[in-house]
Amino acid sequence: MRKKIAVLAGDGIGPEVVAQGLKVLDAVAEKSEHEFTYCHADIGARAIRKTGDPLPEETVEACLNSDAVLLGAIGDPEYDNAPDLKVRPEQGLLRLRQKLGLYCNIRPVKTYKELLHLSPLREEAVKDVDMVIYRELTGGIYFGEKGRSEDGQSAFDTCTYSVREIERIAKQAFEAAGHRRKKVTLVDKANVLETSRLWRKTVTEFAKQYPEIELDFMYVDNAAMQLVVYPKQFDVILTNNMFGDIISDEASVFVGSLGMLPSSSVGFKTSLFEPIHGSYPQAAGKDIANPVATILSVALMLKSMGFYKDAFRIEQAVSACLNKGIGTPDLNPNITYSCSQMGDVIASIVSGAEVKYERISDGISTII
Ligand code: IPM
Ligand code: MG
Repeated sequence: MRKKIAVLAGDGIGPEVVAQGLKVLDAVAEKSEHEFTYCHADIGARAIRKTGDPLPEETVEACLNSDAVLLGAIGDPEYDNAPDLKVRPEQGLLRLRQKLGLYCNIRPVKTYKELLHLSPLREEAVKDVDMVIYRELTGGIYFGEKGRSEDGQSAFDTCTYSVREIERIAKQAFEAAGHRRKKVTLVDKANVLETSRLWRKTVTEFAKQYPEIELDFMYVDNAAMQLVVYPKQFDVILTNNMFGDIISDEASVFVGSLGMLPSSSVGFKTSLFEPIHGSYPQAAGKDIANPVATILSVALMLKSMGFYKDAFRIEQAVSACLNKGIGTPDLNPNITYSCSQMGDVIASIVSGAEVKYERISDGISTII
C-alpha cells in the first residue's frame, strides 16, 4: 500500500530524531509491500525565520494532502523569555491542531523493565505501569478568548467546553478502555470549575453506553499526587487540554526518560504523530538526542494505518535494543550510542538483519 507522509521536522532536535524515524520507516517499507513517500514542510521557529509565519499555508496544504503527519519538535529559546512577542513557534503547532481538527491526543505511558532504575520513583512503584492519557486537544483554555486590558494591568484566558467536544473524546477513551483493563478515570477540577462539572455530567451520562467499563473521577490535584504514589491504579485517563498537558509530562517520569514517549493526535481526517518531548535546544545538532519517542510515534502511525505487524516489529526492535543496554546518553551513560547510531540499530533489527554493530569510534560491537 502507498502512503504519503507530511514530515514536519521543526526545531531543535526535531530534524535529528525525525531522520531516525524515517530511517526505520524505510526499513519497514523494504520488508513489506508498503511504500512511503515524504513531503517535507516547515513549522515553528524554522518557519518563522523563513516566512515570518510559524505555520505557512503550504504546510497546512501538505498535511491535508497526506495520509499522516510526522512531527519532530517545536520551540526555540530565542522566543521563550519574550512574553510580548506576537509571533511564537508554538502557535504553529496549536494552529495545526486546530486546522486538522485533532481533538484527541493519545499518550501511552508504559514502563520498560530495563529502564526502571532511571525513574526518580521507586522501582516497585513504576514496574508494570501501563496507562494511556486521552487529552482533549482543540478546546478549553488553550483556545478560549484571551487578552490583556488596555492598561496592561490584567490579562485573561477563558475556558469553554461544549457537550459535543466532551462526548467525542470520551468516545475515544471508552473505546480504548474496552480493549484494555476497562477502566476510565476522568481527571478534572469539578469542585471549583464549571467546565469540569459539565465534563463530569456529560461523561457520567455517556458512560451508560459502556456498562462493562468502570468510570471513576479524580480531582486534578489529587491525580497529580496519586500518579507518583500509586501509578499502577490508572488504565485510561480522560482529561481536558490543560490538565492533560501537565499530567502527561508528569507521567513521563515513570519511564525514566522523556525521550521514550510517543503520541498520536486524531481528528476527522489526517492524524499527527509526534514525540511528547520538546525541542531540547541544548542538544540540537549534537547527535545525542534519544530518537525512540519518534520511532515509537512511527509505530503508532503504522497502527493507525492498520499495519499492526510492522508496528509490532518496531516495538520489538526497541525492546531488543534496551535489552542489550543500547541507548543514547539519557538511557545508558556507560555505553552510549548516538542518535543516528541508535536509529541504525533499530532500523537494522526491523530489516531482519543480524545486527553486528561496530562502533568505529571506540571499537565496541553489538550483536543482536
Ligand atoms: C505538548 C506541548 C504543547 C502544548 C506546547 C508546545 C504548545 O507542551 O504538546 O504537550 O502545550 O500542548
Ligand atoms: Mg506539554
